[in-house]
Amino acid sequence: MSTLSGEVFYPDPAFATHADDEALRAAAAADPEGFWAARAAELGWYKPWDKVLDRSNAPFFKWFTGGSTNIVYNCIDRHLTGPYKNKLALIWVGENGVDQQTYSYFSLNREVTRMANIIKAMGVGKGDKVTIYLPRIPEVIFAMLACAKLGAVHSVIFAGFSADALQDRISDSESKLVITADGSWVNGGIFKLKDIVDEALRFSPSVENVIVVKRTGHEVVMDPLRDHWYHDLTALPIAKGNCPTEPMDAEDTLFILYTSGSTGKPKAILHTHGGYMVGTYTTLKYTFDIRDEDRWWCTADPGWITGHSYLVYGPLLNGATSFMFEGGPTYPYPNRWWQLIEYHGITTLYTAPTAIRLLMRFGDAWPNRHDLSSLRLLGSVGEPINPEAWHWFHQVIGRGKCPIMDTWWQTETGMFQICPTPSMPLKPGSGGKPFFGQEAEILDEQGNVVADGEEGFLVLKNPWPAMLRTLYNDDARYVQTYWSKYPGKYLAGDSARRDADGYFWVIGRTDDVIKVSGHRLGSAEVESALVSHPAVAEAAAIGLPHDIKGNSIHVFVVLKMGIEPTPLLAEELRKHVSIHLSPIAKPDAIDFTEKLPKTRSGKIMRRVLKARAQGLDEGDLTTLES
Ligand code: WTA
Repeated sequence: MSTLSGEVFYPDPAFATHADDEALRAAAAADPEGFWAARAAELGWYKPWDKVLDRSNAPFFKWFTGGSTNIVYNCIDRHLTGPYKNKLALIWVGENGVDQQTYSYFSLNREVTRMANIIKAMGVGKGDKVTIYLPRIPEVIFAMLACAKLGAVHSVIFAGFSADALQDRISDSESKLVITADGSWVNGGIFKLKDIVDEALRFSPSVENVIVVKRTGHEVVMDPLRDHWYHDLTALPIAKGNCPTEPMDAEDTLFILYTSGSTGKPKAILHTHGGYMVGTYTTLKYTFDIRDEDRWWCTADPGWITGHSYLVYGPLLNGATSFMFEGGPTYPYPNRWWQLIEYHGITTLYTAPTAIRLLMRFGDAWPNRHDLSSLRLLGSVGEPINPEAWHWFHQVIGRGKCPIMDTWWQTETGMFQICPTPSMPLKPGSGGKPFFGQEAEILDEQGNVVADGEEGFLVLKNPWPAMLRTLYNDDARYVQTYWSKYPGKYLAGDSARRDADGYFWVIGRTDDVIKVSGHRLGSAEVESALVSHPAVAEAAAIGLPHDIKGNSIHVFVVLKMGIEPTPLLAEELRKHVSIHLSPIAKPDAIDFTEKLPKTRSGKIMRRVLKARAQGLDEGDLTTLES
């Protein structure tokens, strides 16, 4: 192993698979399609594929064309006839710490089959859209898998989004069915999900039925023609019996997932059965060295891509035991996660820097009260991890012996793109190198590769199986957003550097996406929530560095003529965003201003606002309108 520059952590010899990993990396670099075909062959197919990668209509790449499979066949069905039948697939703990459920692969199949039978009886079949708006309870996993089993397309909406956001996404997807709960537990209080669904559905004519899981038990209004308690449905004859898993073309849609982009309307990223399955299976297996005896905990919510790929699908594809916790890290005390790790013998913890920074603030005494020796690997995702948080995670949680897999990827990529392997020397703050079979570059504005150490636009050079296939109902925007700046190369939307050792360092977004506590939000979404308030004429939202959240939302507001800016109004506007978009999007600060800086073509210059808010030089203002 040659000497690397900067601060480097060399792997424990226990992860002495370095030679194997590097051999695989070299083989994959020489023949990416061969590498992916070999991984796909480790999974089950009803009919083998004819072609690994079809580039004929690039950038609409297709993978494993002609092949037939179903991700649920590989997540569940194939485990039922082998040694994993009685293995735990899921361990779930409720926020109160009292409610607990475990599911073997056998019983997971029973639950998923039951839900699939029910939604099938409601007329949901191949290609139909289903919106899932559920808290972190086992039913969210059953619902996703039940849809996939039938070939229906799930659209999971994070259960922290409010009625307007939910309604937009339900209408855009033309969902026939919504699966929700009465409420979710949030730090001991109830977040009333069903009320939000009721409001969202006032303007969603496509929805025929709503299934409601009872979780919080508070009083909710049920529309007798539309709403059904899940526990009532499970008692009906329609819920009983076997439900065959639908054979799907490898390129058939598995799910859509709404995410924020540069413009107002959230875009729905579209993923497919075959490629997504092969990609999430492979990346989890190699990056986290998944072993039979592992207990894997991904703290993400299934409402985001991390939950889709690495809480639900990836672990099940690997026959792993996955852990899911309904609550957050600090309720009722900041030792909650450490307690759960100790009690359940978690071996791998995959979380976000924002959570690490939050927990770090409470001091070492909380984790030190617990035996965390079951941990053997740690993971980080969602935003760059600052060295301070990296060291704390490594020393205090990982006791200096657990490698940290810093995984860079996106809703669009579906799977890890830049990440280490456990046997690779690590540099705090760097995600390491592109995953097997991938190549990345850092380009300048003109498309030239910049010198090592210099910042530029991050692009991916090779197609990969779990790549988004398009934006749902918007092929043109797909091509425009990702493939037009540098033809033939995928534009990630991040700025990054590569060092002389070939390690990549992601710096942050180059567009108007703001990562707040690892959650992806768009400036335009926050702005449109603000202008829906009667006092607001115009608004501009920017992200500013924040010690714990990574970024905080700062907005500039121009009020309508004659309306006075007051602290009370500022507070009202913050609440307005919380109610109309999501509590996670609540601005930290509101600045009232007379005018927003704009280009001559009327585009808000957020760069100027960012500098202004931070008291920095506002830079080149020559394109500003007068
Ligand atoms: C950021 C989350 C630095 C990045 C899986 C990316 C990261 C955006 C990392 C995608 C990381 C994600 N280091 N930045 N390890 N992982 N990002 O779609 O800006 O919610 O473009 O997917 O998160 O966010 P998304």
